[in-house]
Amino acid sequence: MTQPPQKSSDLITEEYLILHKVAQVLQSSGDLKDVLREVLRAVTGFQELRVENKVGIFLVDEDKKTLRLFHTVGDFSEEFLEKEREVPFGDCLCGRVAVSGELLMSESCFTDARHERTFSDMTGHGHYIVPLKADAKLIGVMFLYTNTDPIWYRHSQEVLLSIGGLIANAIQKKQVDAELEEYSNRLESLVETRTEELRRLTHSIQEIREEEKSRIAREVHDELGQSMTALKMDLANLEKKLPAENPALLKQAQAMNALLDSTIKSVQRIAMELRPPVLDAFGLCEAIAWQAGEYEKRFGLKFDLQCLSEHAELGSSLKTALFRIFQESVVNIVRHAEASKAAVDMKILDGTLQMEIRDNGKGIQDKQVEDSRSLGLIGIRERVRPFKGEVRFLGTPEKGTEVIIRIPIQAQ
Ligand SMILES: Nc1ncnc2c1ncn2[C@@H]1O[C@H](COP(=O)(O)OP(=O)(O)OP(=O)(O)O)[C@@H](O)[C@H]1O
Ligand SMILES: [Mg+2]
Repeated sequence: MTQPPQKSSDLITEEYLILHKVAQVLQSSGDLKDVLREVLRAVTGFQELRVENKVGIFLVDEDKKTLRLFHTVGDFSEEFLEKEREVPFGDCLCGRVAVSGELLMSESCFTDARHERTFSDMTGHGHYIVPLKADAKLIGVMFLYTNTDPIWYRHSQEVLLSIGGLIANAIQKKQVDAELEEYSNRLESLVETRTEELRRLTHSIQEIREEEKSRIAREVHDELGQSMTALKMDLANLEKKLPAENPALLKQAQAMNALLDSTIKSVQRIAMELRPPVLDAFGLCEAIAWQAGEYEKRFGLKFDLQCLSEHAELGSSLKTALFRIFQESVVNIVRHAEASKAAVDMKILDGTLQMEIRDNGKGIQDKQVEDSRSLGLIGIRERVRPFKGEVRFLGTPEKGTEVIIRIPIQAQ
């Protein structure tokens, strides 16, 4: 090879234009193959490459020590594409560049002994084989078909190596991006699975709690209640047998009787509060009316109830969920709203059950609605979720708060 000739300034300008174009294309987003196709097209703009307009890229498979054909532009035969799917390191021209990491030029495929692989329809051509290096690490190899005996400008080497570096960086970035995306997808699906598991767990714990409450309520009411009633009757019998001349004993018996009465009331109240039997025996409206009456007595809150009693036909778990939501909402009104009035409105419209609980207090704030520490509100949402319903908490400052639940009931 003789001393590389000087290149005309026109050709140098052309090379810089190509380099610029490559850099620009590599900036664009999109599928790596689409971007590389554009890049390779730009590369075929080099004078020396115009004969065949054929270029391609191999990517390194570090584990197998081979190059894998990644993308080609130009008219390659089936035979070529099949044979060149994998090229071991050290093999032919590209395999040699994979080992050396240096730019390689070959004058002719017929005379260059390193050109070990041949094809039936091979016509005379030369090659530039460009290492694709990012941070000194070989990512792949780009092969360019030139005319036989291409003029070997020193300048071209630098431009080709720069282009190789740009392409390698782009490929590496895409590979990192793809890994990151896969990682984030995996993470996302893991979070989804875990959330779903937690939801199911929450739901089943709630069901178990309800069953337990029912059982305890029944036992407290039936067992304790009956024993108390039996005690009361025994005491009445005993009282009759007490000597009339001992008023102190009589007085004591009466005091015991009064204590028994109040204990029976407590037992009934505790049983009711655990789970009002009216909820199972009658319907949601009746249970809500009873509970509202209790709240009026206890907290002095005035209730306006609009509830249609055909809701009795709602399934037991839906009735329970709505009743617990009502309780949680009213406890919130008592604790936070500074309200004097509350209203509950329940109706079924076009197959959708709608329950609204309103107060005339200070109004819940958006940040409280969105706060991940608002466990009471989260509990309400979770109670609605199994029924594929929706919940909204709307607050208007100094006007009040509305809790709106909508549940499709045809689907239940
Ligand atoms: N009716 C209401 N009016 C005004 N503010 C409300 C009302 N309901 C809830 N809030 C606000 O929203 C917050 C979150 O309510 P949430 O029920 O989640 O929690 P909490 O009642 O404070 O605690 P708990 O976990 O015991 O229910 C409350 O702390 C309160 O500031
Ligand atoms: Mg609360």
